[in-house]
Amino acid sequence: MLLFLDTANLEEIRAGARMGVIAGVTTNPTLLAREGVLDTEGHIKRIVEILPGPISVEVTATDTKGMIQEAVGVARWSEHVVVKIPTTPSGLEAMRLLKEQGIRVNATLIFSPNQALLAALAGATYVSIFLGRIDDISWDGLKVVRKTVELFQVQGIPSQVLAASVRHPLHVLEAARLGCPVVTMPFSVLQQMIKHPLTDIGLERFLADWRKLQAMREEARV
Ligand code: E4P
Repeated sequence: MLLFLDTANLEEIRAGARMGVIAGVTTNPTLLAREGVLDTEGHIKRIVEILPGPISVEVTATDTKGMIQEAVGVARWSEHVVVKIPTTPSGLEAMRLLKEQGIRVNATLIFSPNQALLAALAGATYVSIFLGRIDDISWDGLKVVRKTVELFQVQGIPSQVLAASVRHPLHVLEAARLGCPVVTMPFSVLQQMIKHPLTDIGLERFLADWRKLQAMREEARV
């Protein structure tokens, strides 16, 4: 499976890339606005330089023609760009036409297995299920992920289920256990996944004992 970072912050992407566990990045207009990005093309190209994997960039047009125009332009920025298209009737039409042009699509704002199925049939490479936002309205986001993963397996659908809107490490773990091939998460969740108090305590003890041993060696030398 692959882990992506859900951020437009270059420092976070650099840190994730250095760890060697992050294969791609998902952005959206909110994440770009959070970083105060004025030049989207330049910013996305910088992300690609740091992490040359699938980088999702969302269109802002809402009609099919506008989405396609925007998507074609954005896809020219880099071969690594995957265009995020909202899963609406106009979006589905755009997905189909973009597929015909060989442009990879990440179908976004998916909240049900039916939406995921339609996006897959329209040719999306990734279908992004916003599991955290489903939990927010007291539904079960992981259940939607499970049903969609099952559906795609049973039907042999090649689109990849992408667990998005991840809020905590348990979301990542459970999505992975359900067979979800891609999970995108904020950098804070990656940090939480790494952290364990016993690792910190264990390291502290090893280092303290190592210092003691060094002192004993110094003493033995005099
Ligand atoms: C997906 O690719 C979106 O960028 C993201 O996961 C949305 O998450 P949010 O619900 O935390 O905004």
